[in-house]
Amino acid sequence: MTNPTLLILAGDGIGPEVMAEVRKVIDWYGDKRGLAFDVEEDLVGGCAYDAHGTPLHDDTMARAQEVDAVLLGAVGGPAYDDLDFSVKPERGLLRLRKEMDLFANLRPAQCFDALADFSSLKKDVVSGLDIMIVRELTSGVYFGEPRGIFKEGNERVGVNTQRYTESEIARVARSAFELARKRGGKLCSMEKANVMESGILWRDVVSEVHAKDYSDVELSHMYADAGAMQLTRWPKQFDVIVTDNLFGDLLSDLAAMLTGSLGMLPSASLGAPMANGRPKALYEPVHGSAPDITGQGKANPCACILSFAMALRYSFDEGGEADRLEGAVEKVLADGVRTPDLMQAGEGTPATTTEMGDAVIAALEASL
Ligand code: IPM
Ligand code: MG
Repeated sequence: MTNPTLLILAGDGIGPEVMAEVRKVIDWYGDKRGLAFDVEEDLVGGCAYDAHGTPLHDDTMARAQEVDAVLLGAVGGPAYDDLDFSVKPERGLLRLRKEMDLFANLRPAQCFDALADFSSLKKDVVSGLDIMIVRELTSGVYFGEPRGIFKEGNERVGVNTQRYTESEIARVARSAFELARKRGGKLCSMEKANVMESGILWRDVVSEVHAKDYSDVELSHMYADAGAMQLTRWPKQFDVIVTDNLFGDLLSDLAAMLTGSLGMLPSASLGAPMANGRPKALYEPVHGSAPDITGQGKANPCACILSFAMALRYSFDEGGEADRLEGAVEKVLADGVRTPDLMQAGEGTPATTTEMGDAVIAALEASL
């Protein structure tokens, strides 16, 4: 049997540093668990622009379509701020999402016990928090046409279009219902049906999918603004949330910050099944390229490592091994290993990126 293939796009800023720690984890699985992967590396974002004049080369795009899973670090940085919109680092990421048709973006917001004090909210509001935001990722205002900056009389007008088809809503709703069924059995759908037709359609279609195939899941609807308020008031009322591309972008940042540990949160972007039955998939940490700490050994590799855990679970059907890796990260935190983002000022000596990665490997060893 041939090994599953992974394409690593470490990207910019702290991407390569955190990805180096993921490589250790991947190698560990090959050596110790008989789970060997064929790993290839390529460029995305600003580094791809530097090399090829485009944030994603066509050859890289083609390879991403063929491999079993893509692991991405982060894209962007101040050096690229003045680039033309069409070649900005973010365009590379958006092209991957769009052309791989990764419509379901899974963003867990989980509060690790050892880190509950880091939340800006009271400990009892966040401790034990474990919610999943499913963000639609390939449509909506991010991609709707018409778009552009046009001349209208004497002034310019900026146009973007919020647009959803029934099938786009139905497929992401199905992904969310499936997850809810395996988790706490509750799904809350968020839109702005009070002001947007796309929101009215969103609510209708989610309700139809529910009535047809998922009536065992408890469904509720909320306006997205009220949802943001409820997320900060009492986030534990939620299990799975499904929402559109733009609201999902906002709400997932909000939910991530609730946990007090942006450096800890992974994500999975999934599409339709390929010929081998695995979904098209891209895994990436929720955090960005963090140019302010790049190259200093300060980056927390846990979000990227936990993104690989999601790959084990969703692409490779290795839920037990994903549990093992998540357990290893939790143990390391419980043991008090901390990168600077997980410490209060003046709290002792932080672990470096490499030390954090090594501690995870040690915890994996201890799990055998
Ligand atoms: C995210 C990011 C991206 C988005 C950017 C980098 C294009 O904010 O993944 O949440 O807006 O989707
Ligand atoms: Mg975002």
